[in-house]
Amino acid sequence: ARTIPTPFDHEQIRIRRGPRSGLTVIVAVHSTFLGQAIGGCRLARYPHWTNAVTDALRLSAAMTHKCAVAGLPNGGGKAVVALPPEVTLDHAARRAIMHDVADMIAALDGAYATGPDVGTNPADMATIAERTRHVFCRPPEVGGSGDSSGHTAAGVVAALHAVCNAVFGSPQLAGRRFAILGLGRVGAHLARHLTAAGAELIVTDTDTTKRQLADELGATWQDPDCALQADVDVLVPAALGGVFTPDTVPLLRCAAIAGPANNQLDEPATADLLHERGIVWAPDYVISAGGVIHATAVELHNETSEQATARVLGIGDTLERILDDAKKASVTPAAAALELARQRIQRPHAPRLDQ
Ligand code: PHE
Repeated sequence: ARTIPTPFDHEQIRIRRGPRSGLTVIVAVHSTFLGQAIGGCRLARYPHWTNAVTDALRLSAAMTHKCAVAGLPNGGGKAVVALPPEVTLDHAARRAIMHDVADMIAALDGAYATGPDVGTNPADMATIAERTRHVFCRPPEVGGSGDSSGHTAAGVVAALHAVCNAVFGSPQLAGRRFAILGLGRVGAHLARHLTAAGAELIVTDTDTTKRQLADELGATWQDPDCALQADVDVLVPAALGGVFTPDTVPLLRCAAIAGPANNQLDEPATADLLHERGIVWAPDYVISAGGVIHATAVELHNETSEQATARVLGIGDTLERILDDAKKASVTPAAAALELARQRIQRPHAPRLDQ
């Protein structure tokens, strides 16, 4: 049989052993069709550097979809630094890594700008800014828009209202049961918000010190495997990707899934498995766009924080439209979202923020 080679879908990928840190640094530029590629810088442990490359490829492609659906004049990219499993970083090592990342971004000459992601924060962005201007979310004291996690969480909350409305006929969060998988920065914001809104909450994290937050909020702490299978209204994946697979989908007991973790499905076809089980999956790249929406609005388009926040809350309307399109066309929300992304990417002129 003739084998058809998989087309290389990215514009470029650079892999380099950081001269200062000695670590593998990957920058993947998936698309600049709509404008400068943007996407966070992930600092995470991987069994092998090639796993980090795979992650960078998928995360950068998701950023293209994220920006397109959010209506941003940007494409998708991602930076990933592969930490060996056992290493812990001191201040100097961290700076060395960020300078290595910064030099790779600078060499791309504006094709890609970074921001914070899993494992990095605004202080790291300030370090990167010492060597390139293509970086978002530096601390406000040095002129950036600061931590994006609260804005990402605000977008997810807007999406949760839309999901609840579509699935349960009411946008109310009070009295609904949620399980948050992962109490990182975004997950912790969500936990606080949902508690304040009167929701019932199960939370989990691989880091058991996060249990303190559960206790503080009066949320039920479960271990990660249990929480995944919790009998809740909405499951909220808020940590790493790859949660839903042909093995885990049959175990689920939720009615809907809506969370900010990137790349929640092991592969696109898993969306069909969720659909067959009657579980509504809000596409991750649609509802996690609050961070990029806010940062670009404030830092590139000189909008006020209020204008940017209004744009972030628009995620609720976007998701409502996608769930509606999906229902009307009898397709999965994943397919409806992809269709919306494709329409935007195929438009001859980049959508602009003012349109
Ligand atoms: N981590 C963000 C995301 O996945 C990336 C980001 C945030 C990039 C803010 C730029 C500004 O969407």
